[in-house]
Amino acid sequence: MEEKISKSSAAKEKAWSDSNALTNVNRPLKLDEIEASAQKRIKTGDQELNRVLGGGIVMGSLVLIGGEPGIGKSTLMLQLALSAKNTNVLYVSGEESQQQIKMRADRIGHEDSSCVILAETSLNQIFVQIKELSPKIVIIDSIQTLQSAKIESAPGSVSQVRESTGELMRFAKETQTPVFLIGHITKEGSIAGPKVLEHMVDTVLQFEGDRHMSYRILRTIKNRFGSTSELGIYEMLGTGLRQVSNPSEILISQKADDLSGVAIGATIEGNRPLLIELQSLVSSATYGTPQRSTTGFDLKRLNMLLAVLEKRGGLRFGSQDVFLNVAGGLRIDEPALDLAVCAALVSAYHDIPIKDDVAFAGEVGLGGEIRAVNRIESRIAEAEKLGFKEIYVSKHAIKGLSSSGDIRIKGFSKLKEAFEELFG
Ligand code: TYD
Ligand code: MG
Repeated sequence: MEEKISKSSAAKEKAWSDSNALTNVNRPLKLDEIEASAQKRIKTGDQELNRVLGGGIVMGSLVLIGGEPGIGKSTLMLQLALSAKNTNVLYVSGEESQQQIKMRADRIGHEDSSCVILAETSLNQIFVQIKELSPKIVIIDSIQTLQSAKIESAPGSVSQVRESTGELMRFAKETQTPVFLIGHITKEGSIAGPKVLEHMVDTVLQFEGDRHMSYRILRTIKNRFGSTSELGIYEMLGTGLRQVSNPSEILISQKADDLSGVAIGATIEGNRPLLIELQSLVSSATYGTPQRSTTGFDLKRLNMLLAVLEKRGGLRFGSQDVFLNVAGGLRIDEPALDLAVCAALVSAYHDIPIKDDVAFAGEVGLGGEIRAVNRIESRIAEAEKLGFKEIYVSKHAIKGLSSSGDIRIKGFSKLKEAFEELFG
């Protein structure tokens, strides 16, 4: 029956919808008739995943997990599958054999897990198994390996990916089964294959991190069922991914007391306050054009801040190489880090260390002014929680702030004043 389908005019038929076309007819409803109940969600044991999904897995949702090869997408999804105890989860892999997946599962640990593993790339065969098993959650690793019999082009091609995703979406919506799709992204950062994939799915999560570091970030890029500013943090261990519930602790590395060029910024990623360490190095350029290089921070922003320090602070970076790193392999683009970046640069420039119990939160303007940033209370609270004794902020931010507890809040309107206080 299926063989016939491929090139004939019957190719228009829908592999999933075929058999279900008559049972699921949409009817128009008056607004009063539509149930406005909150989305039904499955809470997983993974708090970070629940968070980025907006509070758990929404029934019938199609979620795309993108990331570079080797970052840990398969591990993340297999862990989700293995953690399901009384829910049958179908994990379909078109990339690895059942044996390979078992080895990985052994590494992670899978006591009384009820998930089933299928190594398959044919979409029709996958649906045959799905009908047999009626899984509560389906995971596809990866969308680029799937082959729909209705399309002749190779797996991973635009039309294959679009067709397979379309079929899986119809399945998800009609049966209210959540489906996770893993998709590789290219070095340039786009999901290999069509951009259209991102438009089709309900939620796009991106798994990222520096492959040489153990920390991983799961970021919400698109979410029809929640905020797009959520963030989950994991650490890749020998036994799988560990949820990191207190990220600040790991992002402030080995606090070396007497090291110049290090400053701690109080940032907000997603909805979470994070304290992160910025490291900078300023050294005279021996030959040619001085270098400016950053890891995890916008290079243009660094250049802007250097110009401000030069013009408003009289520092001479012109003949210096300048390097700036965000510790932990994170990428942060928040202007609230400006003040910490400037502090790190000035500390490196003068070779004067900053005390390790001082944090910073402020945006820096072109006039060298320190601007207030949003949610200053959460930043201060996080710094205080982690034992910081002082936090430098904008003078405009401290109005109305109750000086709470142990941390001293220091407000300044100009960089110059802040650094006179800091470096004497
Ligand atoms: P993987 O999930 O295969 O990445 P992706 O599916 O995104 O391509 O994981 C890749 C890396 O993670 C691999 O280099 C091995 C490492 N890893 C660990 O460090 N610990 C573990 O427990 C597992 C399962 C993998
Ligand atoms: Mg993989």
